[in-house]
Amino acid sequence: MAAPSHELIAILDFGSQFVQLIARRVREQKVYAEILPHTTTAETLRARCVRGIILSGGPASVYQPGAPTCDRRILEMAVPVLGICYGMQLGCQLLGGKVGAAEAREFGRTPCRVESRSPLFEGIPAETVVWMSHGDHVASVSDEFETLAQSENTPNAAVKHRGSAFYGVQFHPEVTHTPFGPHLIRNFLYRICGCSGDWDMKSYVAQAAEMIRGKVDRAGVVCGLSGGVDSSVVALLLHRAIGDRVHCIFVDNGLLRRGEFEEVSQFFGREFQFHFHPVDASRRFLARLAGVTHPEEKRKIIGHEFVAVFEEEAKKLPDIRFLAQGTLYPDVIESTSAKGGPSSTIKTHHNVGGLPEKLGLRILEPLRDLFKDEVREMGRELGLPESIVGRHPFPGPGLAVRILGEVTPKRLEVLRAADAIFLEEIRQAGWYGRLWQAFVILLPVQSVGVMGDERTYENVAAVRAVHSSDGMTADWARIPYEVLDRAASRIINEVRGINRVCYDISTKPPSTIEWE
Ligand code: XMP
Repeated sequence: MAAPSHELIAILDFGSQFVQLIARRVREQKVYAEILPHTTTAETLRARCVRGIILSGGPASVYQPGAPTCDRRILEMAVPVLGICYGMQLGCQLLGGKVGAAEAREFGRTPCRVESRSPLFEGIPAETVVWMSHGDHVASVSDEFETLAQSENTPNAAVKHRGSAFYGVQFHPEVTHTPFGPHLIRNFLYRICGCSGDWDMKSYVAQAAEMIRGKVDRAGVVCGLSGGVDSSVVALLLHRAIGDRVHCIFVDNGLLRRGEFEEVSQFFGREFQFHFHPVDASRRFLARLAGVTHPEEKRKIIGHEFVAVFEEEAKKLPDIRFLAQGTLYPDVIESTSAKGGPSSTIKTHHNVGGLPEKLGLRILEPLRDLFKDEVREMGRELGLPESIVGRHPFPGPGLAVRILGEVTPKRLEVLRAADAIFLEEIRQAGWYGRLWQAFVILLPVQSVGVMGDERTYENVAAVRAVHSSDGMTADWARIPYEVLDRAASRIINEVRGINRVCYDISTKPPSTIEWE
């Protein structure tokens, strides 16, 4: 995305897993950042009027043959450069420093002493903690460098080249484990590059819409809308970009939560002016799932059926040439081949895998550089109400992965009833917004209970509530006992078919958030 009207920071990608995180940290400081291949030339950067350049980390060693490098003239451009980890080692090597394997490699939180008088560390305590992850380091630098930080095993944990505006940090300011990381990045952008901070989510929406218009031209776009925050944001963004050439298809697979199909249909049918096609396909999904118990088989059946329904619907629509998906950055397991970086294997989670090839559609993934909280911010910017922006994630295969064993209409009803009670109690206790997800799982296990004077022999349900920032890792939530108590007792009393409730206290990893 070109951004001539905004201050621009170029991030040259040397294959770090954190390269998107660097871009996100810059965005948080209200400065526009673009990830570019490490081979980008000084001429290109000059033509783009970059305010500053960040050289990312990467898995290689600078002294290995074939290690990725950059145009050396970048360091002579009179534009500040910040090298991070590999980027620091490369910058130092190009400017005459010596890089070697560190005797003691450093991984994790590391105490570090920094030079607070340098603009890079201004306002940061002299004794601080940084997050290191390196096997090599800058072993020695000439008098042309000033050392700005040291740790026990890294004599040059941060440096500044006296003859240019090159700064290097061996640690990773972009990860949350470096507590003053955002402060350091802010110092680089504002004190060193002289940025004023002229960029925000409004600009991001405008640019993303412009990019979509450029790509789609006059064609139509189909979008699978589930009512979750990601697909809702994609739908609204597309509508902003290309108006009524976007068609949203909402499939009821019979595996939604209580009232969900009606609520989502009413909301999108009423509030927004785009083409919205709700499709009730619940019968065919449940028919295909009858008798199936294996989790992977269930997922496969649901995926195939979804493709079939979607294909039938999309064929009824005019001139559709694109399929839009709400893929987020954490879904992109390995980063940035699209940007030409060396970490070129991308694995993308396609919620509607198989469709694009079948229908000859091209994929649009306008959220693929964003993290969940940024998508929520974009949703607010696009006028999505808080009730949707703040919704918990819900898996594509729906309640099928929360009913262990066979999915039947009866078991779905039992789970829906229990799930509705749990969510109601969570909401009432003011916990909904504090959680990543909260839900009930119906187990294929029966236990003995007593109700009144009667013996019961019914199902066990598990309730799960987790905290997470991106779904990749999760911790179980320490919900107050009283809330759990109320939810469990209501579920057992009000839902026929459940006589015992357990609370899931597993973290991810090694468990996962969903049970299947
Ligand atoms: P797990 O269970 O793997 O899930 O820890 C991580 C996050 O992803 C959601 N999830 C899915 N989302 N399609 C989706 O769109 C799926 O097939 C799927 N499976 C899991 C899950 O709810 C959690 O937020």
